[in-house]
Amino acid sequence: MSSRGLEGVVVAETELSKIYGEEGRLVYRGYEIEDLAENATFEEVCHLLLYGELPDSHQLADFRGRLERERAVPPAVLDLLRLLPRDTHPMAALRTAVSALAGFDPDAENMTEEANLRKAVRLTAQLPTLTAAWDRVRNGNEPIAPADGLGHAANFLYMLTGNEPDELRARTMDVAFTLHAEHGMNASTFAARVTVATLSDMHSGITSAIATLKGPLHGGANERVMKMLLEIGEPDRAEAWVRDALARGERIMGFGHRVYRALDPRAPILRSLATQLAAQGGNTRWLDIASRIEAVMREEMDRRGKKIYPNVDFYSASVYYTLGIATDMFTNIFAMARTPGWTAHRIEQLRDNRLIRPKAVYVGALDRKVSPIDERG
Ligand SMILES: CC(C)(COP(=O)(O)OP(=O)(O)OC[C@H]1O[C@@H](n2cnc3c(N)ncnc32)[C@H](O)[C@@H]1OP(=O)(O)O)[C@@H](O)C(=O)NCCC(=O)NCCS
Repeated sequence: MSSRGLEGVVVAETELSKIYGEEGRLVYRGYEIEDLAENATFEEVCHLLLYGELPDSHQLADFRGRLERERAVPPAVLDLLRLLPRDTHPMAALRTAVSALAGFDPDAENMTEEANLRKAVRLTAQLPTLTAAWDRVRNGNEPIAPADGLGHAANFLYMLTGNEPDELRARTMDVAFTLHAEHGMNASTFAARVTVATLSDMHSGITSAIATLKGPLHGGANERVMKMLLEIGEPDRAEAWVRDALARGERIMGFGHRVYRALDPRAPILRSLATQLAAQGGNTRWLDIASRIEAVMREEMDRRGKKIYPNVDFYSASVYYTLGIATDMFTNIFAMARTPGWTAHRIEQLRDNRLIRPKAVYVGALDRKVSPIDERG
């Protein structure tokens, strides 16, 4: 018997995060996600994931400084982005650029834990720069250099637009990064661990992870959620739209999860941020449509006896859209936020490494013989 989708299969021990699927709880290294979202910045969460502890004020200043110094990417990698067709998907551009970064990284083939930590910080710092640069380049603009003195989230929004975000927008981006930073043995993290377990390098692992995150059943769902909200367009059209889609046997993006059989704890935090942004901008359209979808889904799924609830992507979509981020870049936000999780998993994998190599049950033909080519018709 095979386990389809490896559901329920335990492939590693991890100290990074624990998901309580039935209760809808998420914990990073012992801290509840609500506590971290409320009381820590993304930089503090990165430190927690990479070094095991929240930083004290000196460690935080040092860590922020290191992230800041690592933000710039080699000009040749920016040139590489300029060579890509303008309609290249931002996740494809990111995957290509991260792979290319390896060639410029002085630690690329250094497998020590110290070097891996340096690369973890560097990649966490560089992914936002690459993503913002691609959005500028594909729109015919010059990339904007990172700004010293701005936090990780605020600097990303600055590099996209050239404007420093206000406090609510910067904090919203920061919390969204924290919520996406780590999530157990999800598909992209597993891909990264499979890659590095062969003793391949950090950049290869992160390139695998980005490639895996790109799909609509994983990170790509947030982009599809926004497309759905835009297609629905008006709150009054939501109910019929959802019922029709379900009647056609389609899945509603932003709902359901392999592990959560309750509300994803990240969804209400994002809903609260979406509410604050909507109030600030005086536009509740996306929130209203989302609430209507949620209500119809609750009714439909209850009727079908299915534990399908909103996941992290459902509300992150309208949050990013309101922040002015292009819809096809939403998955890149997920990727840049998940980099500390992916890189921490690499480090954890290498501390007790064993090649990851499952088996498949052969169900093909048996006992066949090769006949001469001229007898095969
Ligand atoms: C996330 C996801 C891939 C999990 O998949 P999974 O664990 O393999 O779930 P299953 O395919 O076993 O789904 C169980 C049942 O719920 C249904 N279901 C799952 N997600 C659904 C959704 N978003 N909309 C409607 N029905 C859904 C499935 O059709 C299936 O029904 P069936 O038993 O009648 O065949 C799935 O929920 C999904 O496709 N969601 C939409 C994409 C998304 O938002 N992804 C982001 C995840 S963070």
